[in-house]
Amino acid sequence: MTLQKAMNIVWHEGNISRTDREKLLNQKGAVLWFTGLSGSGKSTLAREVEKKLHHLGCLSYVLDGDNIRFGLNKNLGFSPEDRSENIRRIGEVAKLFADAGVITLTAFISPYRFDRNMVRQLLREGEFTEIYVSCPLEECERRDVKGLYQKARAGEIKEFTGISAPYEEPVNPELVIHTAAETLEESADKVIQYLMNKGIVQQR
Ligand code: ADX
Repeated sequence: MTLQKAMNIVWHEGNISRTDREKLLNQKGAVLWFTGLSGSGKSTLAREVEKKLHHLGCLSYVLDGDNIRFGLNKNLGFSPEDRSENIRRIGEVAKLFADAGVITLTAFISPYRFDRNMVRQLLREGEFTEIYVSCPLEECERRDVKGLYQKARAGEIKEFTGISAPYEEPVNPELVIHTAAETLEESADKVIQYLMNKGIVQQR
C-alpha cells in the first residue's frame, strides 16, 4: 500500500468530461492488461491488436514493459517491491489514458495477482480487461527472443520470472490467449472479437 505523502492537495474537475472526450472519439476509454511470462508474446500481441484497432478507427496506445523501464520507471528493478511499484505506476498511467478516452494496452509481465487486482480496483467496473497471454515456459525459453532465459539459467540474471522468480497465473482473466497454439492473427482477432462483444469497440 502506497501512503499518501502530500498534504493540502485538492482534486479538480475540468470543464470537459470524460464522456465529452469519448463522444469526440466515438469510443470508450478502456484498459487491456496483457500479462504473461517474458517471451510469451504480450508486446507482439498488444501491437497487433493496436494495429487492428487503428484500422478500425480507434485511438489506442501501448504501454510496454521494456520501454517504460527506460523512462518513467528507470529507477525500478525486479525485486518484488520494485515490480509492485512498476505495476502501480503503470496502473495509474493507464487510468489517466483511459480517462482521456484512449484504448490503452499494457504489456507487462505483472507476475503478482495482488498487483494486477490492485489495478483492477483502481479502474471502473468493466474498464479493466485482463488478458492472460499463456505460453508454456519451455516454449518461451525455446524462443528466448532476448537471450535472457539463457542468462537466467546461467545465473547471470537474478530473480528472473519463471526461472528464479514466480509468475502467478490469473485466476479469472477476461480472456486467455494461447500463443503457442495459434497464429498472431488468430490471437489478435480473438481480442478484437471480445472487445466488440463487450461493446468496448464498435463495428464501424
Ligand atoms: S514486471 O515483472 O515488473 O511486470 P516488466 O514487464 O516491466 O516486468 O519487464 C519485463 C522485461 O524486463 C522482460 O521482458 C525482460 O526483457 C526484462 N527483464 C530483465 N530482467 C528481468 C527479470 N529479472 N525478470 C523478468 N524480466 C526481466
